[in-house]
Amino acid sequence: MTKTGLLMPGFGGAIATTVSGVIDLIKQGHVKKYGMISEKQIDDRTLGQIAGAPEIEELEVGGWDAVDATIGDAMKLHGVLEEWQYNLVSPNLKLLRAWPVRCPDLEKKSPWGSCIAQICNDIETFRKERGVDSIVLVNCISTMPKPTPNPAYESISSLQVACQQDDPCITPSMQYAIAAALTGSAYANFTPNPVEVPSIVKLAQQHNTPLAGHDGKTGQTLLKTGIAPMFNIRNLRVRQWISYNHLGNRDGAALAEPNANQTKITSKANCLTQILGYEDVGHKVTIDYVPHPDGELGDRKQAIDHIRFKGFGDTPMSLLLHFDCQDSSLAGGIVVDLARFMTVSLARKESGLQPQYGLFFKSPQVPNGEPDHDLFNQAAYFEAWVCQDANQ
Ligand SMILES: NC(=O)c1ccc[n+]([C@@H]2O[C@H](COP(=O)([O-])OP(=O)(O)OC[C@H]3O[C@@H](n4cnc5c(N)ncnc54)[C@H](O)[C@@H]3O)[C@@H](O)[C@H]2O)c1
Repeated sequence: MTKTGLLMPGFGGAIATTVSGVIDLIKQGHVKKYGMISEKQIDDRTLGQIAGAPEIEELEVGGWDAVDATIGDAMKLHGVLEEWQYNLVSPNLKLLRAWPVRCPDLEKKSPWGSCIAQICNDIETFRKERGVDSIVLVNCISTMPKPTPNPAYESISSLQVACQQDDPCITPSMQYAIAAALTGSAYANFTPNPVEVPSIVKLAQQHNTPLAGHDGKTGQTLLKTGIAPMFNIRNLRVRQWISYNHLGNRDGAALAEPNANQTKITSKANCLTQILGYEDVGHKVTIDYVPHPDGELGDRKQAIDHIRFKGFGDTPMSLLLHFDCQDSSLAGGIVVDLARFMTVSLARKESGLQPQYGLFFKSPQVPNGEPDHDLFNQAAYFEAWVCQDANQ
């Protein structure tokens, strides 16, 4: 059996523990394989099988975080999934290494500085110990303030100097991306933290590794990019789209920091004008951190959309949507899909930014031009990519 390593920075967080826990439950046969495009059936095969992706049973998981708890305990803490589910998860799923990763011994030896050298070491150790062929890193760390422009983001040489000097302009999300390229691993950025700067894209190209990002399209934006094309198809004129979110989990707590909140809102607000093809829409996105009194809503997020539009005869109408999302469940399926399909990208020797993964992200990063946010166009593009070898 060929194995793929799925390594997640943010391993103790809500998404990564959901991913580790559900993979374990699937391996034990306790839950069905829902919520993953890779499991979508076409005739007698799944999309994953058509692409030549590894099966879920062939995934080995690991990652980095500051907290070393068992996955079951961490799932309980985050309020993800149901009690019967986290009670069945194997207790021995442990962290790869506690973050922050620092190893002064490696400092002089590595041209990329101690921190990146340590992450590379961890990846190679994991590869050997678990006997995996390919490795995909899916970044699931907390949302952080957006960094300001820096020359390190332009060329590989200035990037390397900044890494050697431990310059804070190299954010943690970037450190993991650099280590991924240097170890020949794929990297997907599930967070809204900017990573796909020109120097890191060039580094991935130089090392023949694929990059995908950013900010997983899970709840409200998934809905928005699925519903907005409907208004376009029937030429119903959208006048105002107000999106409100409230959540009480740790991601919500991180988003209470105003700069992190702005990073997220910018990522969420991009899609509408591109899909509708006109700009005179009052589009407002708000995210509030509202801790639940007894934590009873756990990881659930409430996403409310109020859309005002005009139809035949200028007639005003409105649509009100309330999505009660289990955030980490929606996210977890995408993380597993990315791990499985990016293994295919590695095998196909696809390097740099990979536009076919646009349907998984709120802010799809594409090599040229503007991304298409329309969910149906994105899905068609992705399925064409999946089938490209099968059709030859
Ligand atoms: N849940 C969703 O639906 C969704 C959708 C899109 C994007 N995201 C993004 O995914 C990320 C993770 O979400 P979550 O709900 O799991 O958040 P979380 O707060 O539960 O987990 C984040 C984890 O990252 C860890 N961390 C912080 N810095 C780190 C570092 N340098 N190295 C290793 N670990 C580090 C934290 O200790 C924490 O355990 C967030 O950035 C969020 O905005 C989430």
